[in-house]
Amino acid sequence: PAPAPAPSFSVTFNSVAANQNDRVTVPTGYETSILLKAGDVIEPGVAGFGGAFPTPGQAEKWAGGNHDGMELFAIPNTDANTSGVLAVNFEYPDFNILMSDADVAAITSNPASATAAQRQLALSAVGVGVVEIAKGADGKWSVVPNSRYNKRYTGNSAYRVGGPAAGLLSNPIKGTLNNCASGRTPWNTYLTCEETTDNYFDPSQPANDYGWVVEIDPFQELAAPTKRTAMGRFDHENTAFMANSDRRVAFYMGDDATPGCIYKFVCERAFSATNRAANIDMLDFGQLFVARFNADGTGEWRLLQQGQNGLVVGARDPGDISQSTTPPAPRTVDFRNQADVLINTKSAARVAGGTVMDRPEWITVAPDNTAIFVALTNNSGRRVTDATNPRVTNRHGHILKMRESGDSPLATTFTWELFLLAGDPALRSGGENLVGNISGDTFSSPDGIRIDPQGRLWVQTDHSVPGNSGVSGVTIDQAFGHNAMFYVDQKTKQSKRFLVGPLGCEITGIAYTPSLTDFFVNIQHPTGNWPINGEKPRSSTVVVTRTDKQPVGN
Ligand code: FEO
Ligand code: CA
Ligand code: CA
Ligand code: CA
Repeated sequence: PAPAPAPSFSVTFNSVAANQNDRVTVPTGYETSILLKAGDVIEPGVAGFGGAFPTPGQAEKWAGGNHDGMELFAIPNTDANTSGVLAVNFEYPDFNILMSDADVAAITSNPASATAAQRQLALSAVGVGVVEIAKGADGKWSVVPNSRYNKRYTGNSAYRVGGPAAGLLSNPIKGTLNNCASGRTPWNTYLTCEETTDNYFDPSQPANDYGWVVEIDPFQELAAPTKRTAMGRFDHENTAFMANSDRRVAFYMGDDATPGCIYKFVCERAFSATNRAANIDMLDFGQLFVARFNADGTGEWRLLQQGQNGLVVGARDPGDISQSTTPPAPRTVDFRNQADVLINTKSAARVAGGTVMDRPEWITVAPDNTAIFVALTNNSGRRVTDATNPRVTNRHGHILKMRESGDSPLATTFTWELFLLAGDPALRSGGENLVGNISGDTFSSPDGIRIDPQGRLWVQTDHSVPGNSGVSGVTIDQAFGHNAMFYVDQKTKQSKRFLVGPLGCEITGIAYTPSLTDFFVNIQHPTGNWPINGEKPRSSTVVVTRTDKQPVGN
């Protein structure tokens, strides 16, 4: 397929300047408010964080920490522009509200020294929070206290297991972990994605129990939270679905690792648009594919099915061929059945010929199915390039654009192009490799990426704050300002900085009302005086609106 005509929007806001201010900066005519801070109450029966450290039982009812991916769900028969159910990932604890600085320092330097009580507390503060939210007469959003939808899913609670690898895992599994990015299904369930394949809090737990996509029904009508093994086990970033007019659906997924591949899972049958319960096991049956990119701009989806594409007993895993010009020695892996393929998905992908990418973070699908964008955040260890990962020591990352054959979720071939190379011409003294080709406001390390329902492409960054820019004496924050969110025009590739975060944070999570008048964005791991001056910094969900109440970006 030829590239689709790219949409272009005349966004009206004036770019925010890159800055290192300890606040959230938005364009003139926009404002922000705080919706949900780490330590705020989700389930009733406790007070929120007020300075004292919680018991695990209290933390189990609070918003956890390190807010990351999120999705807003419309409540049936209510106005979705003024109310909804928000599901938010808590990737990691905000330790500063859980225990003393000395305790944090001790368990950070030596995780094995953490006591059982400290582990339980940390596990209480991770997972997912679901909250009913409503917009008041003053235009401000807040959590609806005591809503029947308000619920925590933590690192201590129990999760069902579905799909072909279920028999080889604990059932139920204790905890969901490293809930990084997220997604949703066409039947309005939440997908929280585990970006770790081990339990770093509790090494006694079986390792294969983590690294899955977990399906949660925010309305608590369908199955209990379930780890969906058919979608593969790796360092999951988000999921983004593409559905066709026959209600067949594919989920696109990245493995944020070096090396990490790009995947899609195609459900075996069509979903029901009228009967939610009929979709209860949709994610247990289907085919998992890995993307192989050819240098000529074509590509194919290779099926990860035992017995096919080399996935047999005695398979040879080539390992990470990107990090050294001397390839590692291949490793023998036995794929005896589909459970082996799903538990060792990373290895299966390499055996099947999947292309190892520069850390695939979020993926997004255009509303008309004509484009898929992938944020490849960076890979400073890359030494061997290929057409899709063209830079050695890729410090600033890039964005890839793909198009499925026939714009179909069922396609087995696609085309692709490099959409954008991140970096900044001001870094030219460090070499052309750091410059990139961004037109307009520059950035490093794209991570969150989402095309809103109107078709506008938004990009959020996660450059490592202590990281260096590639030029001696220039920190990455000095080169690019704090992590930020950008509008990038798909036709002109012009980038405009929309929001800049406070000290130390990354920007992640994008949700919005159907009207697009209210955007929800997560500020993860701030380290200064934000959000409340004089108090400890706390990860938080913020709402961005226009003072004239028009749609964001319009
Ligand atoms: Fe938790 Fe790959 O970001
Ligand atoms: Ca991320
Ligand atoms: Ca990241
Ligand atoms: Ca993060």
